[in-house]
Amino acid sequence: MRAFTALSFASLVLGQQVGEYNTEKHPEMPIQVCTAPGSCQKESTSVVLDSNWRWTHVTSGYTNCFSGEWNATACPDGKTCAANCAIEGADYSGTYGITTPSSGALQLKFVTKNDNGKNVGSRVYLMASETKYRMFNLLNKEFTIDVDVSKLACGINGAVYFSEMDEDGGMARFPGNKAGAKYGTGYCDSQCPGDIKFINGEANSEGWKDGAGRFGACCAEMDIWEANLDATAYTPHPCTVSEQTRCEGTDCGNGSERYSGMCDKDGCDFNSFRMGNKEFYGTGMAVDTSKPMTVVTQFITDDGTDTGTLKSIHRLYVQDGKVISNSNTNFEGIDPVNHISDQYCEQQKTVFGDNNYFKTIGGMAAMGKQLTKMVLVLSVWDDHAVSMNWLDSNFPTDEDPSKPGIARGRCNPDAGLPATVEAAHPDAYVVYSNIKFGAINSTFTAN
Ligand SMILES: *[C@@H]1O[C@H](CO)[C@@H](O)[C@H](O)[C@H]1NC(C)=O
Ligand SMILES: *[C@@H]1O[C@H](CO)[C@@H](O)[C@H](O)[C@H]1NC(C)=O
Ligand SMILES: *[C@@H]1O[C@H](CO)[C@@H](O)[C@H](O)[C@H]1NC(C)=O
Repeated sequence: MRAFTALSFASLVLGQQVGEYNTEKHPEMPIQVCTAPGSCQKESTSVVLDSNWRWTHVTSGYTNCFSGEWNATACPDGKTCAANCAIEGADYSGTYGITTPSSGALQLKFVTKNDNGKNVGSRVYLMASETKYRMFNLLNKEFTIDVDVSKLACGINGAVYFSEMDEDGGMARFPGNKAGAKYGTGYCDSQCPGDIKFINGEANSEGWKDGAGRFGACCAEMDIWEANLDATAYTPHPCTVSEQTRCEGTDCGNGSERYSGMCDKDGCDFNSFRMGNKEFYGTGMAVDTSKPMTVVTQFITDDGTDTGTLKSIHRLYVQDGKVISNSNTNFEGIDPVNHISDQYCEQQKTVFGDNNYFKTIGGMAAMGKQLTKMVLVLSVWDDHAVSMNWLDSNFPTDEDPSKPGIARGRCNPDAGLPATVEAAHPDAYVVYSNIKFGAINSTFTAN
C-alpha cells in the first residue's frame, strides 16, 4: 500500500497511477504471421483489458475514484484526479468473463455475474509485449480470424477492428499517464467516444454527465468485423487526424455537427444484407452463422506494394473447407461489386441518400495512410444509443424499410434494447481464434 496520502502524493507527481492490489496478467493469444499458404510462423502475443473496465480507486486506499460518477474530493479536476487515482490489475475470467479456451482462442462472455454484480461486454487489445500493443501495417496485407458468432443474438455485436492508438497507450506523449498499454490505456475510435475515463493522461471528469465527459477520444478505425447471428458489416472510418487525438466541441462531431468533426462516424460500410443480398449471411445460409467461419480481409494497394495507396478492401470467407466470395451488391445505380472502393462508396452514398463524409475526409487514400500503425481490438458489446439497429435492423427506425439503405438486417428493432438483450441472452459469448496476418492470399487455403 502507498505510504503517502493522496494529497501529498499529488504534490509529488502527476499521473494516472497503477494500483497495487491485483497483479495484471495478460491472457496469452498467439497469432501467426504468414508469407505464403502453409508458410506461417507463430508469434507470441497476449491481450489486455481496456482501462475503462478496471477498478479505479484512490492511490491511498480502497475508496472508489469512479463509480458511475467521479469522487469530487479525489477529482476536483482532470489532472489532479489522474494523480490521485489508480487503475488496477484485472481478474480476466472471474470479473469479466474473458478466457482462452485453447491456444490462440479468446472467448468473451456477454454478461458475467461477479462479486460486484455483473459485467456487460468487454474490449481487449492485442499486445506484442508486456507494455506495448502489437502494431499492424495493413497495406498490401490480409488479416484473417476465425469467429464463432453462433451465440450472438440480435442486438449483440462481436467486433474485431483496428484503431490508430499509440503503441505505448499514450505514456510517452502524456506524462500524466503512468499506466500505459500494460493496463489498456489510450483507446480511441472514429466515434470519438466521450465515455473514456482518462484521455491524454487526465481524467475526463469535467462536465461528466450521463456516462460521458467533456472530451472525446478520436482516431481512425477500420472495422473488420461487426457481427452477430443475423448481420455483419466491415467499414473503413478515416479521420483528419493521424493519431489518437482528444476532441472537444465541434471536433467531436456530435449531433448536428456529425459532418464537421475529426472523424467519419458513418464510414463506408459493406453489409451484405443492406447491399441487397438477404440470403447470404445467417443461420443455414451461404455463410452459415450457426457454425464457426474464417473471415479474410484484404487491403489492396494501387501498385501492389506496402507503401502504395489503398485502393480497395476485399472480403472472403472460408467455411467447411470452401472459399466463399463476398456477396455482390444488388441495387440500381450501384455497380455489382463485392468489395469497398471509392467508387463503391460514392455510388452507395448517392443511392442511399447519405452524406459522403468518407470522401470529404479523404476516402480510401486517407484511410490507407492511417492503416499503417493500427492496434487490434476484440470486443463484445450492446448499444445504449440505438440498440444496434444500424447493424442488424432498420435504421433510422422511423424511415420506411423499403427505402434503399434503411434495412440492414432481419432483427426486430426492439431486440437490441440493452435491458432486453441482457435479460434474454445472459449466456451469449463470442469466440475469436486462429488470427493470421501476412501477404495477400497467404493466410488461408481451400480443401
Ligand atoms: C472520495 O474520496 C475521498 C478521499 O480522496 C474519501 O475520503 C471520500 O470518502 C470519497 N467519497 C466517496 C463518496 O466515496
Ligand atoms: C460530444 O461528444 C463528446 C465525445 O464524442 C462527449 O464527450 C460530449 O459529452 C458530447 N457533448 C454533448 C453536448 O453531447
Ligand atoms: C489472390 O487470389 C485471387 C483469387 O485467386 C487472385 O485474383 C488475386 O490476384 C490474388 N492476389 C495476389 C496478390 O496474389
